[in-house]
Amino acid sequence: MTTRILPICLALAAATPIAQAATDKYRLIWNDSPATSVTVAWCQLDGEDAQVHYGDTVRREHTHGVDRQTTHLKLESRFARLRDLRPDTVYHFVIRDSNSESPAFSFKTAPVGEARFSFVAGGDSRNHHKARQRANRMVAALNPLFVCFGGDMISRSNSKDWSAWLDDWQLTTGADGRMVPIIAARGNHEGAKDIHLLFDSPIPEDYYAVGFGDFLRVYTLNSNIVRAGDQGAWLAADLKKHAATHWKIAHYHHPFRPHHAAKAEQHAQYNAWAPLFYTHGLDLAIECDSHVVKRTWPLRPSNAPGSDQGFIRDDAKGTTFIGEGCWGAPLRRNNDDKAWTRASGSFNQVDWICVSPEELTVRTILVDDSQATKPIDRDSPFTLPTGMKIWQPESGAIVTLTPRNADGRSSLDAKTLARVEIIAPKSPFDTSTEVRISIKGEPGAGAKLRYTLDGSEPTAESPRYRKPISLSATTTIRAAIFRHGKALSATVSATATRADSE
Ligand SMILES: [Fe+2]
Repeated sequence: MTTRILPICLALAAATPIAQAATDKYRLIWNDSPATSVTVAWCQLDGEDAQVHYGDTVRREHTHGVDRQTTHLKLESRFARLRDLRPDTVYHFVIRDSNSESPAFSFKTAPVGEARFSFVAGGDSRNHHKARQRANRMVAALNPLFVCFGGDMISRSNSKDWSAWLDDWQLTTGADGRMVPIIAARGNHEGAKDIHLLFDSPIPEDYYAVGFGDFLRVYTLNSNIVRAGDQGAWLAADLKKHAATHWKIAHYHHPFRPHHAAKAEQHAQYNAWAPLFYTHGLDLAIECDSHVVKRTWPLRPSNAPGSDQGFIRDDAKGTTFIGEGCWGAPLRRNNDDKAWTRASGSFNQVDWICVSPEELTVRTILVDDSQATKPIDRDSPFTLPTGMKIWQPESGAIVTLTPRNADGRSSLDAKTLARVEIIAPKSPFDTSTEVRISIKGEPGAGAKLRYTLDGSEPTAESPRYRKPISLSATTTIRAAIFRHGKALSATVSATATRADSE
């Protein structure tokens, strides 16, 4: 009997297409143990008994129902908290309910222990739809392990804005269905309950830590509530408990010291968190809110001579700050640099951060100038996709941090870390071209980039590089880093050839 009915059922199933779009606004959330868990979230339009069908093969042999559902701003969110996953593993899933099946998605759990992976960080996506969408496409092309989003996703905390944001977020998913988990922080444009009700944050106050074993710990802080108090006590205790973690980073909305003059200094935040960051060796802090671009040298809190607004450069033990927003919010002028500002700008951007046991690097993606024509090669996750452009400020395109030892970053060896890169965009060129030279690594204070155009070895007296060099003839450029009359790096050379010079 069974054997006669089964083929009929299969034939019916094949002939009846399963309805789509009874679920939408899919997102993956990490707020706990990323190696073994993920929260699958979506909005339910109709249908009942939704379940996530998942597994490490496309057979998706496991099922998991809804653990939590919220109705917020007319959005019917569902959360399925998958547990007991295998680390460093690609999982496939669909969401099925009584009358629909979602598109097929996949995600990758975090590795355990020392590893090499990248993540994207940024925030402030509230107004400009197109820029936000472009930035989201950069995420899909970069295929990072996760995204740190530092708040102000939306302008107004209402159904229209959130619906549009969540729909745009779908662009962070690759063409093959690979989704990227978000670690969400609250900004001042979010309602007090938005992050907790839409992103399932562990507590309504929206501060929490996500640990990648002892390798990386990501602190999500809430700069919209009291920074000291319970939040400050929790941060101090958690930093102390996880002192041995290899890399420690934090992300939150308000910058301590904004790089836009009209923005207020965050004195209470400085008092509550800056000493903790320094005492417990926080490596990187990602800030938002001002809608400008900035990166600082490593900083420690200090009011000593040479300090500026309560911070002073400390390459050995300081915290590097990056930010401040630009995921599609109105750009503002970067008109408030400090003595310790490493570089600043004003353009749409997200930061791409690569971590390995040996180093942590930050590259700033130029969202408007990049064409994500081809996704990143997943076998080569630290090589930028073709067509993606990064910021090239005078102080170097890449911020590099090395691990701390008991004495701080004393392992930082300027001679081995500081390198020169010559970028000749088009060679052979027709009638003229521009050559850029940048420092890679951290040569420290007083380092100067010098160059020659006649093929000779650069010296401490050679011209200092300050802006792109215009060339109209075939030229060999040689460059090196100097400090106090001594070479800090090897000499690098490149030749830009004029096409008709033969
Ligand atoms: Fe803001």
